[in-house]
Amino acid sequence: MKPLKDRYSTPAEKENYVQNMFSEIDEHYDLMNRVMSLGMDMRWRRKAIRVAEFDDKGILLDVAAGTGDMSLAAKKMLPNVKIMGVDFCRPFLDIAREKFSHNNNHASVNLIQGNGLKLPFANNTFHGVFNGFLLRNIADVKELYTELYRVTRPGGKVVSLEMMKQTNLLQKSIFSVHQKRIVPFMGRMISLHPEAYEYLPLSIENFYTADELSKVITSVGWKNVFHKKIMFGFLAVHVGIK
Ligand SMILES: C[S@@+](CC[C@H](N)C(=O)[O-])C[C@H]1O[C@@H](n2cnc3c(N)ncnc32)[C@H](O)[C@@H]1O
Repeated sequence: MKPLKDRYSTPAEKENYVQNMFSEIDEHYDLMNRVMSLGMDMRWRRKAIRVAEFDDKGILLDVAAGTGDMSLAAKKMLPNVKIMGVDFCRPFLDIAREKFSHNNNHASVNLIQGNGLKLPFANNTFHGVFNGFLLRNIADVKELYTELYRVTRPGGKVVSLEMMKQTNLLQKSIFSVHQKRIVPFMGRMISLHPEAYEYLPLSIENFYTADELSKVITSVGWKNVFHKKIMFGFLAVHVGIK
């Protein structure tokens, strides 16, 4: 498995790498998510939105909206909110638009191509912001939370759903078999892009633990930061308030 340091070495290179990688796996991305998570990924997304306890009104931002599944989860739980989705991967946004075009309730989801680290919105625009499976892929996590803070109204929340680095020995072993053997095998079979699905376990191993991430979020000004574990802590939902 090629280590991350041989894939990119600067934040700008990481951004390029991630953008190209997701653009290449667009066709099979949703299917791979369902298979890898044994059909549970949409439930995890809805749980993240539930944990946030957003009001069912106003406008929320889905950063790194991808193929739209976090926005779909949010619309299911909060039918009256408007959602703005941003992602820098055009093929993913095309898939999201196609999905939303089949459902009238999703007319209130707007999608634009853009960079989550340089959002094209004024300060204090959104009642809340959320992201799913973005953090391991963003070039700078701290910069992201600073930018999300800027565009969120006072009192608004940030919510992140992400896979966490494991420290417990048993969980590391389970992780190793699932993520380093089964997932890359599925990636080869289904998406024909083994490199992308080898990147996945590496990106988790090189990410934060849930406690470390809470500290990063707090360090840029978010208040009352807490996290809830999902699947014994393999994933976590982090929430903070501005
Ligand atoms: C694993 S996907 C998650 C997509 C979606 N949120 C979901 O739940 O399936 C990660 C997404 O992050 C996007 N991404 C990574 N860095 C980004 C950035 N700086 N600006 C915008 N999108 C970014 C990628 O294009 C990709 O769509």
